Amino acid sequence: MSDVYLNGRFMPMEQALVPVMDRGFIFGDGVYEVIPVYDRIPLALERHLDRLTNSLKGVRIPNPLTRTDWKMLIQQLIAREPEAVQSVYLHVTRGVAARDHAFPKDTVPTVFAMSKPMAPPPAEWLQQGVNAITHDDFRWLKCHLKTTALLANVLLRQMAVEAGAVECLLIRDGYLTEGAASNVLVVVDGILLAPPRNHLLLPGITYDLVLEIAAKHNIPFEERPVSESELRRASEIMMTSSTREIVPITVLDGRAVGSGVPGPIGKKLLSLYQKLKHP
Ligand SMILES: Cc1ncc(COP(=O)(O)O)c(C=O)c1O
Repeated sequence: MSDVYLNGRFMPMEQALVPVMDRGFIFGDGVYEVIPVYDRIPLALERHLDRLTNSLKGVRIPNPLTRTDWKMLIQQLIAREPEAVQSVYLHVTRGVAARDHAFPKDTVPTVFAMSKPMAPPPAEWLQQGVNAITHDDFRWLKCHLKTTALLANVLLRQMAVEAGAVECLLIRDGYLTEGAASNVLVVVDGILLAPPRNHLLLPGITYDLVLEIAAKHNIPFEERPVSESELRRASEIMMTSSTREIVPITVLDGRAVGSGVPGPIGKKLLSLYQKLKHP
């Protein structure tokens, strides 16, 4: 494992220690970002940094680095990692303070960052698709912020794993929001449907890129609420994320999605997405 970054210094992971009174540890009071890197070039870097800025603003943690410094840090992390395909992880907490829910005064945010090799999704997932389950979305109402307080997502993903599935798709008030750690798009009557970007889901960068690809290549799509019944009669379902790209879901709650194999729209989107990585 290459060195990680903590509060201004690179060091071996074992030495990167945070005081127990860090509010990230005590309250989950922090935000994070994950950026995919191909051929040592971060994909959609500006968008990831925009989202980080927005998450920090949303939880009122002052941005500890300038954009130039973030970029420099990311470049250093990439240069230190031997593999060319990586995922960069950035993490900012409100810092170390006596335990009190309200914001402490004059606390310096903790900044942690690392990069590690990123394996592509297993070939079998792309050839056959994966299993997913559904569950009530019991998260909070600020899911557009990428916060480190992920307990609900952790519980939901664990339910999927225990059911032998790869992802848990979340339903709030009869509508699809996203997955426990991914966005979800579906194809209904030949149209790609994407749940709208609002406070109920994370504005995924991969989701963004996929919709831009759809627009550019005349794949019909709509960004609009997707009802549970549409989800259940979809001919294709796919999950998107920076680390797993676009993965077809071919079994939902034990029932085949469409014909039970990855569909044409998902395959087309994936092949076009692959081109973004190596322009
Ligand atoms: C809850 C949630 N939604 C969506 C995504 C996908 O976002 P992105 O495409 O930016 O990785 C993630 C990524 O991990 C996530 O955790």
